[in-house]
Amino acid sequence: MRIAIFRTAHFNAAHRLHNASWSDERNVREFGVCNNPNYHGHNYELEVRLAGETDPETGYLINLDELKGVIETHVTQYLDHKNLNIEIEEFRSLNPTVENICYVIWSRLRKALDEKYELRVRLYETPRNYAEYPA
Ligand code: NI
Repeated sequence: MRIAIFRTAHFNAAHRLHNASWSDERNVREFGVCNNPNYHGHNYELEVRLAGETDPETGYLINLDELKGVIETHVTQYLDHKNLNIEIEEFRSLNPTVENICYVIWSRLRKALDEKYELRVRLYETPRNYAEYPA
């Protein structure tokens, strides 16, 4: 049976949206309060969706304890309470927008999970603003 299963997680992180090749004025115009030079935080909510065939012996698509561990190791512990711009390698040259953070999380999970699973990641920056990858 083909089915999808979901696991949610949560982390807090600080960021600043900024394009170093632009003037300060243009950065403020484009990114508004998210351009604050002293950074600001968000409470990110993550939703991970795996799809595939259930194992006839267990009835599982994946053991949710295993999925929980993969998310903790590769995403939550890596990003929680971090300054994304300064501390996270991927954002040295990539603006930490909700789109880009969502993609980075997907990439990290993609490497950690068996390729038999179809993987989709949704990341909420606020309850009303969120991204999903792949689109
Ligand atoms: Ni922000």
